[in-house]
Amino acid sequence: MRILEANDIVAGYGKSEILHGVSIHLEAKEVVTIIGPNGAGKSTVLKALMGYVSIFKGDIKWKGDDVTRLKPHERVSRGFGYVPQLGNVFPSLSILENLQMGGFTQSKKTIRERIDKNLQLFPMLKQKLSKKAGTLSGGQRQMLGMARALMTEPELLMLDEPSAGLSPKASEEVFLAIADIHDRLERSIIIIEQDAYQSLSISDRGYVLVMGQNEFEGRAERILTDQKIKEAYLGG
Ligand SMILES: Nc1ncnc2c1ncn2[C@@H]1O[C@H](COP(=O)(O)OP(=O)(O)O)[C@@H](O)[C@H]1O
Ligand SMILES: [Mg+2]
Repeated sequence: MRILEANDIVAGYGKSEILHGVSIHLEAKEVVTIIGPNGAGKSTVLKALMGYVSIFKGDIKWKGDDVTRLKPHERVSRGFGYVPQLGNVFPSLSILENLQMGGFTQSKKTIRERIDKNLQLFPMLKQKLSKKAGTLSGGQRQMLGMARALMTEPELLMLDEPSAGLSPKASEEVFLAIADIHDRLERSIIIIEQDAYQSLSISDRGYVLVMGQNEFEGRAERILTDQKIKEAYLGG
C-alpha cells in the first residue's frame, strides 16, 4: 500500500523557490534514501513533508488524505516523525527528560511504557538516563534524537543526515539502529544522506535529487551499482 505521495512539490523559503516540482512516494514499511549534492534541496524536501516550509504548488497525500496544508503538529498526530539534522535533542536536559519531552502529548503511563520500549532498542541510553544529553557522543545523540522521535510512535520516520559528522564506527551503529527500527517496529523510513552507501544498503529504493528536481529514482541496489550515479553522486 502506498502511504505517502508527494506530487510535483514546488516549495521554498519566503518567495525563493527551492524545490521545482519534486515527487516522492513511499510504500508502507519501505525504507527510502534521498541522496544528492549539497544544496540540492534534500532537507527542504523533509521540511516540506513536515509542513515547515511554504508549499507553492503540488500536494502531499498521506494514506489517501490530502495533508498539504496541515500544521507540523497535525502531521505528527497523523503519524509523521522527524529528526532534523541539527538540534534534535536538548543538550541541557537529561536523556530521560528528552524522551519525556518527545512524548509530551501522551499520558504519563503511555510515556513510561514507550520509554521502556525505546530503551530496549537503544540499550546504551538506559545506563545514562540521568546524564545530560550534551554529554553524549555524536552517535549517541543521534540515537537519542531517533528515540525521542519514536515517542509519538510515528508510522513514518524521516531522518535528516543521521550520520553527518560521525566516525565510520558511530555511523555504522546508527545505521544498525535504523535497520532495527525498521525490522522490529516495522516503520516506514525516509533517510537523507550525502554519504549514501550505508544508507542505500539498508534501503529498498532511492532518489537522486539535483537542484530542486528529481534526477533519478530506482531500487537501492540499482543506484549502488549504476556507474554513472556512482561517479556523480557517490564519490566514484
Ligand atoms: N531557512 C532557509 N532560508 C532560505 N534559504 C534556505 C533555507 N534553508 C535552506 N535554504 C536554501 O535552500 C537550498 C537547498 O537547501 P537544503 O534543502 O538544505 O539542501 P540540502 O539538504 O540538499 O543540502 C540552498 O540553496 C539553501 O541555501
Ligand atoms: Mg541538508
